[in-house]
Amino acid sequence: MLTWDDLKKECLNCNKCGLRQSATHTVIGRGNETAPLMFVGEGPGEEEDKQGLPFVGKAGQLLDLLLNAIPFHQSEYYITNVVKCRPKDNRDPLEEEVAQCLPYLRNQFRLIRPKIIVCLGRISAKYLIHPDFRISQDRGKWFDKGGVKMMAVYHPAFLLRNEKEKITQWYDFMKIREMLNELTK
Ligand code: URA
Repeated sequence: MLTWDDLKKECLNCNKCGLRQSATHTVIGRGNETAPLMFVGEGPGEEEDKQGLPFVGKAGQLLDLLLNAIPFHQSEYYITNVVKCRPKDNRDPLEEEVAQCLPYLRNQFRLIRPKIIVCLGRISAKYLIHPDFRISQDRGKWFDKGGVKMMAVYHPAFLLRNEKEKITQWYDFMKIREMLNELTK
């Protein structure tokens, strides 16, 4: 039986792709390790690489603001990324980097057993929901994968550049709140 300790050790010792060489930290996740709700972003940015925690830079602060405003309690969610090491200069992770890293995310799903998985942005939705996922068309819609409810929303970094869309994100997060209430009542 896989344990969190095994998974964390494996991640920390991983050298399967080139990303580890330029990374300061391997960023595994933050939040409740048995939460009913998981958020999955793309990959650590500069600040996340420095601190070893996901979504702690500007985009993360916006995400936290929204989570607190809806509200979601910290015990209700866990936050991680598709790749655990920072792609330099914030480029998209390469397919082969994602392929090497996805087994860690799958094991996080197995350990957490969330009822809802929310993809933060197109890259996460591409790998977790559908390879041709269109974020502007398909965000805010529910998908069912093996009994788990999945939704993609805008990446918080996109909202920093497109303030007008914050209202869309608000309504999408309200849908997530309602679904979580429904699934945990
Ligand atoms: N963007 C991401 O996709 N993930 C982070 O952890 C930070 C910024």
